[in-house]
Amino acid sequence: MKQSSVFLSAVWLIAVSSASFAQTNFDFGKNEYAASCASCHGVSAKGDGAVRSFLTKTPSDLTTLAKRHGGVFPVQYAWEVIDGRSSAAIGAHGAREMPVWGYIYRAEDTQPADLHARNRIGSLLDYLARIQVK
Ligand code: HEC
Repeated sequence: MKQSSVFLSAVWLIAVSSASFAQTNFDFGKNEYAASCASCHGVSAKGDGAVRSFLTKTPSDLTTLAKRHGGVFPVQYAWEVIDGRSSAAIGAHGAREMPVWGYIYRAEDTQPADLHARNRIGSLLDYLARIQVK
């Protein structure tokens, strides 16, 4: 193959692959939320999930977290609720030893599984921060 056609193929490949990456609008946080939280907190995150009527406490409206924390999204607080450190206090989330969503958000050290858990929590927090009411 001539040098110029190798160059052109490379340019074409980069153009095609970056165009397809640009079109990927998969929302990790939203997906994570739908899989682990929406059953109780609702698709809207306003606390109207499908299993709401089976719970003794009404799931919180997660779109007003910032509003209820002085206008700033409470990252640390929400993180600790999700990774289980504060889940016992919530009750419905179960204890850290047996969280309602399993161990997928449990991160304690720097093992790959823990980094994966941190990424999942990060994208969940990103999603929740994006759906806050003003
Ligand atoms: C089994 C049902 C259930 C599931 C699943 C669930 N929650 Fe909850 N959650 C609740 C209930 C009920 C409360 C309110 C407890 C209370 O009022 O003390 C709550 C409270 C919270 C709070 C505290 C809100 C506040 O107002 O202080 C946060 C944050 C939260 N949930 C986030 C999540 C996230 C994120 C997920 C998914 C990873 C999730 N929850 C999954 C039932 C659930």
